[in-house]
Amino acid sequence: MLLRRSSVAHKLVSSSVAGRSSLFKLGGCSLFASQTAALPLLPDAMPSAREEYADINWDELGFGLQPTDYMFSAKCTAEEGFSRGELNRYGNIELSPSAGVLNYGQGLFEGLKAFRSEDSGGLLLFRPEENAKRLQMGAERLLMPSPSVELFLDAVKKTVLANRRWVPPPGKGALYLRPLLLGTGAVLGLAPAPEYTFLVYASPVGNYFKEGLSPIHLMIGDGVYRATPGGAGDVKTIANYAPVLKAQREAKRKGFTEVLFLDSVNNRYLEEASSCNVFVVKDNVIATPATRGTILPGVTRKSMIHLARNLGYQQVEERLVSVDELADADEVFCTGTAVVVAPVGSITYKDKRFEYQTGSKTTGQRLYSALTGIQMGRLPDDMDWMVEID
Ligand code: COI
Repeated sequence: MLLRRSSVAHKLVSSSVAGRSSLFKLGGCSLFASQTAALPLLPDAMPSAREEYADINWDELGFGLQPTDYMFSAKCTAEEGFSRGELNRYGNIELSPSAGVLNYGQGLFEGLKAFRSEDSGGLLLFRPEENAKRLQMGAERLLMPSPSVELFLDAVKKTVLANRRWVPPPGKGALYLRPLLLGTGAVLGLAPAPEYTFLVYASPVGNYFKEGLSPIHLMIGDGVYRATPGGAGDVKTIANYAPVLKAQREAKRKGFTEVLFLDSVNNRYLEEASSCNVFVVKDNVIATPATRGTILPGVTRKSMIHLARNLGYQQVEERLVSVDELADADEVFCTGTAVVVAPVGSITYKDKRFEYQTGSKTTGQRLYSALTGIQMGRLPDDMDWMVEID
């Protein structure tokens, strides 16, 4: 069962949604289809049930793929809707060369983390419903059926439990869950795929950037944009990521950590970096670009806004943030599930380099401590964000 830490009212029982009918049909696959019965648990004989920890060096985790034991997958066919799904050994999947995802990019992904509580040693997920709902939003945009919130949560929970020996010890990192929703049915002409696969795999991770927790250095993208109005910049489609690779490589070649993109209409307003959202702080006013269709509505971004208000910041603004504001900002930081909260040491724009405060007294550091304290079970979870996995 999935259980909110502080409220029995939030108990999620998968069988309670059994048999709910679909709302819309897409070639027979429901666009918010429900998952039904609970999945079988792994037998005790499986390695993940026996060992407390996998035999790896937990002090050396970065953000590279460390294959784990099991992955979850459920199919959605025209006739049957979403299957109940199952755990299988982690490994390659078979795809038709004509799969919609391979030919027309009909694919979405998510990223969320499971932690081992410093307090109880139990396993905690951070706001998984937010990812479930964002996947549904993206699926609607790409004309894909999406798993119900219940199926999403069930799949994530089962993936964590099956791979529990890969959840890092407290303070060493997290188990990163990567849900995928893919058009796996074959198409040739441009059309939605006739069949979909919802898959969740996992990898233990540490810091995203090679800088670790040290400041990162950004470069403003020059004539290259991540998203356009009316496009799909606000959904986590796989198609939003390959187009930034070239700019990212160029930035790295010049010694920067990441690219920060401007809006494609005015070439003036901050949008986001290739893998994270951005916040700018000036005189205790915190601003982040408003999500107006071109920016990913990050779960960490949303949580930062909430935490900052809770910490007493009077002005936390979601608005247009002009690149001109970078010249006299006190502080800049980036946020994301993978990135967590990364202090920005400098941003370079048209050969001008702006430098920012970093270190233990900064707003970013306060927010980082507040967020990770909740995630690791060190601080009270007053917002009921953590979902404990029994
Ligand atoms: C995440 O933060 O979870 C993401 O999906 C970003 C990805 C580029 C690693």
